Amino acid sequence: MSFSSTLLQWYAQHGRDLPWRRTRDPYAIWLSEIILQQTRIAQGEAYWLRFVERWPTVEQLADATEDEVLRLWQGLGYYSRARNLHAAARQVVALGHFPTTYDEIIRLKGVGEYTAAAIASLAFDEPRAVVDGNVFRVLSRHFGIDVPINTTEGKKTFSALAQQLLPHEAAASYNQAIMDFGALQCTPQSPDCLRCPLLDTCDAAATGRQAQLPVKLRNLQVRERHLAYIHIVSRGRAAFHQRPAGDIWQGLWEPLLIEDMQALPPALADARLLRSQVKHQLTHRTLLADFYVLYTDVPPALPADFQWLTPEEVEARAKPRLVQHLLDIAAEHAADDAPAAD
Ligand code: ADE
Ligand code: SF4
Repeated sequence: MSFSSTLLQWYAQHGRDLPWRRTRDPYAIWLSEIILQQTRIAQGEAYWLRFVERWPTVEQLADATEDEVLRLWQGLGYYSRARNLHAAARQVVALGHFPTTYDEIIRLKGVGEYTAAAIASLAFDEPRAVVDGNVFRVLSRHFGIDVPINTTEGKKTFSALAQQLLPHEAAASYNQAIMDFGALQCTPQSPDCLRCPLLDTCDAAATGRQAQLPVKLRNLQVRERHLAYIHIVSRGRAAFHQRPAGDIWQGLWEPLLIEDMQALPPALADARLLRSQVKHQLTHRTLLADFYVLYTDVPPALPADFQWLTPEEVEARAKPRLVQHLLDIAAEHAADDAPAAD
């Protein structure tokens, strides 16, 4: 049996039952693919359900405000996905219908080659092979290809092979089959080769190279960035501002951020350190954050874009996960500091 038929047969038996697989609605499928771009299925599923319940159609999502979308996205990270999602919903409404071909779908904001191929095949049966991390792994191992996947040549090689293997009459099932196969059978750390239906034809299994494939060129730069947040609370209100364009977390709300604690204004010198070196991993850098709180009766002067928010307002604004973490820690400490009730 061919590689593709084997995968399709495996998928019929072992494929995952996921809620967005029970619909052909391109809006619902697009939403799932954007969420799953950088999020595990277990976590993404809950968010997908919340999104389709809150905004069952693309028109309703387009009618929401960006802040509402960011708020529901909170906790998923990579917030540019949420902003692009909202912008793309408005593109679709302006267009008058959800685009139906790969070439049109890829023009939506936040939609790259992978996502366009996924939507075109899953919602419209267009024969476009997806290439994601699972596909790189399965193809590189099965066919013994050691071209690095994060190079132009690698992307070309694997895209061409994926497209060649795609059965045109079963594009949707095949694309999901190879992704599930990579996620469940041919996994990164412990592929289950002994019970693999492709064992007889697999190059990596024959040569014992499962752990060496796929090849990825190491990105030598791991950058660290140190910063400090000062959660300033005065007369029951907390100082927050909205992050401007041009950096991470655009549009999200945060307390005072200081890159260099040596440059701390004297009015903030009494800030208390709650937690140091809290790690937050971004794609290309590691943030190491110190968390401070300052409770003061006299509101200090702050940059003009800061607002004094009530606890309810703080709760309602969209915030980076790191900031939510700071607020949780501050709340714990505040509870500890409170006089014991008797
Ligand atoms: N990961 C992201 N999208 C997926 C899909 N449609 N099937 C399996 N895994 C996925
Ligand atoms: Fe992956 Fe092992 Fe199957 Fe080869 S035999 S496709 S390495 S699980």
